[in-house]
Amino acid sequence: MFNLKNKVAVVTGASRGIGKGMAESFAKAGAHVVCVSRSEDALNSVADEINGNGGSASVYACDVSSLDAYQELIKDTVASHGSVDILVNNAGITRDTLIMRMSEEDWQTVIDINLKGAFNGIKAVTRAMMKQRAGRIINITSVVGLTGNPGQANYAASKAGLIGLSKATAKELASRGITVNCIAPGYIATDMTDAMTDQAKETLNSQIPLGRIGSPDDIAAAALFLASDEAGYITGQTITVDGGMVMI
Ligand SMILES: NC(=O)c1ccc[n+]([C@@H]2O[C@H](COP(=O)([O-])OP(=O)(O)OC[C@H]3O[C@@H](n4cnc5c(N)ncnc54)[C@H](OP(=O)(O)O)[C@@H]3O)[C@@H](O)[C@H]2O)c1
Repeated sequence: MFNLKNKVAVVTGASRGIGKGMAESFAKAGAHVVCVSRSEDALNSVADEINGNGGSASVYACDVSSLDAYQELIKDTVASHGSVDILVNNAGITRDTLIMRMSEEDWQTVIDINLKGAFNGIKAVTRAMMKQRAGRIINITSVVGLTGNPGQANYAASKAGLIGLSKATAKELASRGITVNCIAPGYIATDMTDAMTDQAKETLNSQIPLGRIGSPDDIAAAALFLASDEAGYITGQTITVDGGMVMI
């Protein structure tokens, strides 16, 4: 449907789950996808699958919480592939516990990966995209960043922060043809949500009007749209993809 031919996309957290789904979808639409996470082995199997299916993917092992590492990633991508047209800041973790028990490390680690990771990505890619006078930046937040959630003060703060970061940078970069948007997934079946208790899963499931848990493909469809030329008049927005769980 949407064509990403001749585009280069960097997708973080592409070794599994939602990131893997977006990498596959972008590759199917014709983009070269640079798959990023910390584990090279897992990335290799994702890229092998994409390349085996006739797509084009390469891998780059990088911890997104390091600005230096992120800057190297973007520099190397531009050197090898000529541009970075699409950046998806998707890498994220949870360290859930009640605020009373949350350690400073639980707080900082989540902020460093989920929020500072996206800051690092946007900062690293801005110069190249400004030169191109075009670019798509997509940040993966969460419905929890809109509503809050007990036991997730660190995660909710990081995800709400992503929305503010996206709006501020959308305003800064709009005149250069760069759009910055968020996708807020609801409850999506991945390793991250597999770790929840059965009771928590049932409670969440019962709150989804469309009556099913989401899949990485549901998020990938929204990401493909936001990455496309057709979404060129949309910036600073958050698209919620959650089966109707949160309606604001
Ligand atoms: N699943 C849901 O229901 C849901 C709902 C709302 C929002 N989200 C958001 O969607 C995104 C993807 O979630 P998911 O469910 O697909 O999670 P997941 O299955 O746990 O995958 C997380 C990905 O992030 C990578 N990653 C983690 N820390 C990293 C770091 N420091 N540097 C680089 N990569 C890192 C992981 O690879 P390595 O461990 O190999 O580095 C992995 O590829 C996250 O931002 C999450 O908060 C998910």
